[in-house]
Amino acid sequence: MCGIFGCLLEDGHAAKVILEGLKKLEYRGYDSVGIATLDARGIHVKKDKGKIAEVEARLSLSSLPGNLGIGHTRWATHGAPSQVNAHPHTDCTGAIAVVHNGVIENFMQLRSELEGRGHKFKSATDTEVIAHLVEEGIARGLPFLKAVIEAVKVIDGSYAIAVISVKEPDTIICARKESPLVIGIGDRTLYCASDIPAILPYTRKVAVIEDGEVVVLSKAGFKILKLDGTPVSRAPFIVQWSAEEAERGGYPHFMLKEIFEQPLAIKNTLRVPKVYLKLSSTILSDSKRLFLVAAGTSYHAGLAASYMLSSLAHISSTPVIASEFISLCNNTIDEETVVLAISQSGETADTLSAVRCAKEQGAKILSITNVVGSSITRLSDIYICTQAGPEVGVAATKTFTTQLTTLALLAIHVSMDRGLLTTSEAQELLDNLHKVPGFVDRTLKETEPLVKKVSDLYCNKNSFYFLGRGISVATALEGALKLKEISYIHAEGYPAGESKHGPIALIEDGFPCVFVAPPDETRANIVGNIMEMMARGAHIIALASEDDKEIEELSTHFLPMPREVYKYFTPIVYITPLQLLAYYSAVTLGYDPDKPRNLAKSVTVL
Ligand code: AGP
Repeated sequence: MCGIFGCLLEDGHAAKVILEGLKKLEYRGYDSVGIATLDARGIHVKKDKGKIAEVEARLSLSSLPGNLGIGHTRWATHGAPSQVNAHPHTDCTGAIAVVHNGVIENFMQLRSELEGRGHKFKSATDTEVIAHLVEEGIARGLPFLKAVIEAVKVIDGSYAIAVISVKEPDTIICARKESPLVIGIGDRTLYCASDIPAILPYTRKVAVIEDGEVVVLSKAGFKILKLDGTPVSRAPFIVQWSAEEAERGGYPHFMLKEIFEQPLAIKNTLRVPKVYLKLSSTILSDSKRLFLVAAGTSYHAGLAASYMLSSLAHISSTPVIASEFISLCNNTIDEETVVLAISQSGETADTLSAVRCAKEQGAKILSITNVVGSSITRLSDIYICTQAGPEVGVAATKTFTTQLTTLALLAIHVSMDRGLLTTSEAQELLDNLHKVPGFVDRTLKETEPLVKKVSDLYCNKNSFYFLGRGISVATALEGALKLKEISYIHAEGYPAGESKHGPIALIEDGFPCVFVAPPDETRANIVGNIMEMMARGAHIIALASEDDKEIEELSTHFLPMPREVYKYFTPIVYITPLQLLAYYSAVTLGYDPDKPRNLAKSVTVL
């Protein structure tokens, strides 16, 4: 996730306006920043690694000349945060500049084709291919607009782009596919941006650009077209939100916004280049000992992954809470050990100390993180980045489901590489995984009203149990962690089979027990565990397949889940109503879910 901003002023200083716009977008990424403006002398670019304020103090981005320009605040996906990888990117001649938010899946192939035709690349980003593709179109004699359209037609993946060219110095061309893009219409001024809050200080008149559309911003006004050139008529609307509400996309809290961003975050995460999966799969297959090391929510992702890896890839792994790793595993690490570290921030001190300890003893380090350039990526032999975008709420939500998505992809690839799945079996699983964004979307919409009711009824209880079996133990543990960290209600996650060995002693009339009960091989036993709890007066809140009439009848409250989710992907879908339960309980109790007491987004102490 990155932020893009562009403006075309009647006269005046575009760079100043762009800088202010980028500040509003900094929540979308902040590892590097850059601006390109255009005047009679050509394109001027300033960019560097660092936060906006730091780079502005160093380079004075806002002093760039010209009344038209584009800018970018970056959340690295391809290429580490650095001066050359910062946007805008230019073509070979410096006559075209591009900013981009999204992921170009086929950039390696496009880059090698462009290099074969003599183009010189300066960065390691996927974005730079766009500048060179537009350059080729213009060199072939195409008008600027046609050159941009031809370029985006060969791109696979997601993008919101803004492009400027000396060929048409009064024009900004934008295009969108699966990354957000809005335009703002001022008084003889035009703006483009990744979201509305960036534009609000200048105008409340906005048009939202849809997938597969191109926009031309020029002195003549704005024009929206489809890729085949058909004009699109779109009446702008007047934004009624306050600036503060607009930053949260109209949601009352970042946590809720991030919960509802999950379908898109998962979709973007599924775009991980195959080469990373291949390299990681080889490391995992060759390991003699595999530890899955993480803290908090990330540990729950690791726990779910241990079930995926053992069932799908026949690989035994040990999930270890990061702060316990050295005490538990120190004497068992050698060169044949692999540590798969999972951390959304990539900065958790417990996880870093486990990784350093393992690395010193020769272990290979593989990591999954949401932050390129974080400490964990620098310590890793190979890392995969989830594409959740920055998560502002302290509670991990979209970073958890994107970690699970990456781990599921990895388990499928290891299984294929070990010859345990035929190509068609693997394809079937991949097809199901690609449907998960849709399952999550449906689940959120269908369960939200039911969850609100449950949270109203039970948020004054002192205690909750969350129970599951098999891979659903991870979902149960995560559901309990979410509830306790956000709403301060005591909650325990347990393997359901273990509940009769002690926890059941606490059950009394009306005690809320959440059962995570997907239709897998654990279902029959979990029905038995539900009965045991019911017999002692517990209220059963069950998450089970929408067609599971038996569990529905046993439940006090039934949360129907999509029937088609493959059993090892259920944590990605089933956790989402539990995130909502934590959220609505906190809000009903009057707590701020974005900033729970005593917690920090990134825990950098041991
Ligand atoms: C989750 O909601 C928590 N905020 C916390 O448990 C978190 O998952 C843990 O601190 C690990 O963070 P990391 O993924 O950044 O390493």
